Amino acid sequence: MSFKELYQPVHLIIGEGCIQEIPRHIDTLGVKKALICTDQGLMKIGTVKMVTDVLDGAGKPYAIFADVLPNPTVSICNQAKALYDQEGCDYVIGIGGGSPIDVAKAVGILATNGGTVEDYNGLELSTHKSAPIIAVNTTAGTGSEATRAFVVTDEKRKSKMLCVDSNSVAYLAINDPSMMVGMPPALTAATGMDALTHSIEAYVAKSRCPFTDGIALESIRLIGKYLERAVKDGSDMEARTQMCWAQYMGGLAFSNAGLGMVHAMAHQMGGFYNTPHGVANAILLPYVMRFNMSSCPDRYRDVAQAFGFDTGSMTPEQGALAAVRYVEELSKNIKIPPLKETAFDPKDALALAKNAMGDTGMPENPRQPSIPEVVEVFMKAYMEKKD
Ligand SMILES: [Fe+2]
Repeated sequence: MSFKELYQPVHLIIGEGCIQEIPRHIDTLGVKKALICTDQGLMKIGTVKMVTDVLDGAGKPYAIFADVLPNPTVSICNQAKALYDQEGCDYVIGIGGGSPIDVAKAVGILATNGGTVEDYNGLELSTHKSAPIIAVNTTAGTGSEATRAFVVTDEKRKSKMLCVDSNSVAYLAINDPSMMVGMPPALTAATGMDALTHSIEAYVAKSRCPFTDGIALESIRLIGKYLERAVKDGSDMEARTQMCWAQYMGGLAFSNAGLGMVHAMAHQMGGFYNTPHGVANAILLPYVMRFNMSSCPDRYRDVAQAFGFDTGSMTPEQGALAAVRYVEELSKNIKIPPLKETAFDPKDALALAKNAMGDTGMPENPRQPSIPEVVEVFMKAYMEKKD
């Protein structure tokens, strides 16, 4: 017997002003009080208020946990869950990029399954559907509102846990581009490259299928066309809206196909140095593509075609190289820093590589590396060696 099971939110709403639809879905769910998981930055710039104004207007009660930090830890999830219990909440609203939505998912899973976050580090380890999750995305990016994955840093082991669990899929995913206009260019760039990495990794992942292939390629096409525009002019609503679609499709693609070696390595940089996830992915993506190239050059040629290259007369290898160079050029244009300008220390490369081998993303990579090969990819990125 051979089959493929797909996961996606029950409802998705994309478009300017769509946060107004949230109360209608709360009524359908019949839930009483929300725990909002978010961060201080989004509180300060008024993004959270855009949602709480809608909830207040509809008379929907909530409590706010605003202490989510980038690369959220087990203890942050535990604090949020404690507030959820203390306030008598029965559903969660994540407002943010990947981190607040990931914490909302962790709280939702803990609320109905008990235990600790570490219990869900791996593939499909919960038994019960999470408490209802409304995921309000504020970046175009992580795709967390679309996926069955949440990432939590184990602060003791300095490692990221990738929890892949269909019970954590959101009930309602909201992508309202008017909530994203305040994103600074560097964040737009990093989260956009995260989305691109999702789509490219999903397109070559071992568990890919026709559904994920289709949405991954369209996501790549949209990112090629609109990411630079969104970085250059954050108020370009067409670019912001198209990036909403691109990142949502990237999220769906990787949630159903898997990730790969880029994320397996980037997760370790997040755990070790708190490197922003999208920056780590953007830096490593072209080097991993070069490492993988021999295993699936035709797939990478498709990526080049999605970027707009006329690949009809190219060999798979020529097409693959065009895709890699396009990614490098895009990163340069949107000012992604090189690995040398991050906290990465070559002395840690072996430890990072060993941890990367155990990451849930690694088995999906089209070419299985050895530990020395992962170290070599880190070092090539560090030396900016392109061969
Ligand atoms: Fe990612």
